[in-house]
Amino acid sequence: MTKITSICCIGAGYVGGPTMAVVAKQCPHIKVTIVDLNEARIAAWNDVDVNNIPVYEPGLSEVVAEARGRNLFFSTDVDRAIEEAEMVFISVNTPTKTYGAGKGMGADLKWIELCARQIARVSKTDKIIVEKSTLPVRTAEAVRDILHNTGNGVNFQVLSNPEFLAEGTAVDDLLNPDRVLIGGDANPEGQEAVQALVDVYANWIPRERILTTNVWSSELSKLVANAYLAQRISSINSISELCEKTEANVNEVARAIGTDSRIGPKFLKASVGFGGSCFQKDILNLVYISRSFGLQEVADYWEQVIIMNDHQKKRFALNIVKDLYNTVSGKKIAFLGWAFKKDTNDTRESAAIYVADELLNEQATIQVYDPKVEDKQIYADLDYLGTRSPDLNKKGVTVSEDPYAACADAHAIAVLTEWDEFIDYDWQRIYDGMLKPAKIFDGRNILDHKKLRAIGFKVSGIGM
Ligand code: UDX
Ligand code: UDX
Ligand code: ADP
Repeated sequence: MTKITSICCIGAGYVGGPTMAVVAKQCPHIKVTIVDLNEARIAAWNDVDVNNIPVYEPGLSEVVAEARGRNLFFSTDVDRAIEEAEMVFISVNTPTKTYGAGKGMGADLKWIELCARQIARVSKTDKIIVEKSTLPVRTAEAVRDILHNTGNGVNFQVLSNPEFLAEGTAVDDLLNPDRVLIGGDANPEGQEAVQALVDVYANWIPRERILTTNVWSSELSKLVANAYLAQRISSINSISELCEKTEANVNEVARAIGTDSRIGPKFLKASVGFGGSCFQKDILNLVYISRSFGLQEVADYWEQVIIMNDHQKKRFALNIVKDLYNTVSGKKIAFLGWAFKKDTNDTRESAAIYVADELLNEQATIQVYDPKVEDKQIYADLDYLGTRSPDLNKKGVTVSEDPYAACADAHAIAVLTEWDEFIDYDWQRIYDGMLKPAKIFDGRNILDHKKLRAIGFKVSGIGM
């Protein structure tokens, strides 16, 4: 039986970093080395001040402080870490393709392939390779093919072990997951590899929560889990628009349906639209795979989740324009929040980016305040869209480190992220500093609308 004493993880991002930090914390007898090509990122993970690590997650600095230098290491020496490890996790980015066949739909696997080739080149002993990144179904086959055809004759087992952590709650999710999923081959070598990974997780996770399947079920389950979660948000968001036309209130509807145990209360929060690195990418993947098998109805069914989400973001922006007398040209609009959800500094696919883009098209000026997102990230997100020049983005958007300054002299405030601190601001002070009528568009339904109206604000929520 393989007993794992040394793990390497390729990719020190939002998934690889927190996941391996928790593995190291829970398994002091296993040496865990996280490697990345990005030298600045590794330097930040190694920063003497543990609060400067590149991923913001509640509780993560403490985990890193405990394990770093004991059995947790961050390095740019990828070859050496691979060679020393018995188990190699691949946790690199797999963004949606931006060119060629499958552009805008399929996953770009170039980084995965590079990893596989690198592992094959440097490995001189048998290894278990674990896919941690979310990957299209049957990627393991490609990885296996590369390993076997370009390697030095050593044996590789390829496992799928998708990550289900949500950003903002990563440490809790990793310490206490609903389940861990491990997919492997049915043959004895495959099962031995599965067992080796089960043994790692069994250091802190009850055995009955560790599910084992074949590789393809595991890969597909990750895409389906994210598609189902995103579908719930698009479903409630579609109802939010209907609520706005009737006298129904989406919060009341969500509570009423969520108490049905068959439906359940989670993921029923109407919002300005879901973001994050996973939902859109994984659904597009599912759609692309379905189309490639000729399953048009299946593809169209899931694509509708994305169409609804795009509609929700656009609708939010256009509502602001409509409500400000059909013009926002030259008007200041304050954005509270830029991250795709609270408690993270990640902005990938954040609704705020698309809402800002629409409002900039209408010649609004925007001032953003987010407690964890840096201004250079905000400009990078807008520039990435390619809608206008970086100069024009800089002209249209400013970033403030103070929420009160961000709201001063604004015609309207748009709440884009559900950061807790927004709830308890001195709203009277904000009101006093704004142009009148002072409007608030609460894209997360987190503020106390009754209280705000008593101060004098005109408030619009989602689905009410
Ligand atoms: C439904 C609602 O469940 C109930 O709350 C409402 O008051 C009336 O409509 P009903 O149609 O009687 O109740 O049965 P239900 O158990 O919901 O099943 C509906 C159909 O879905 C059946 O054909 C059932 O076989 C099918 N079904 C249900 C599945 O195919 N798969 C499932 O997992 C569940
Ligand atoms: C998601 C999955 O939850 C996780 O299991 C998977 O591993 C990665 O993708 P994440 O994207 O980090 O995690 O965050 P999540 O909490 O799922 O939120 C995604 C988006 O949906 C956010 O923009 C959030 O604000 C939005 N959302 C979530 C809603 O609009 N309403 C809800 O009820 C829940
Ligand atoms: P995720 O949210 O999936 O963790 P990130 O983009 O945050 O995605 O992290 C992925 C990391 O993988 C990046 O820091 C990137 O530099 C790193 N990476 C990509 N390809 C390689 C490679 N071949 N070797 C080492 N690191 C890589």
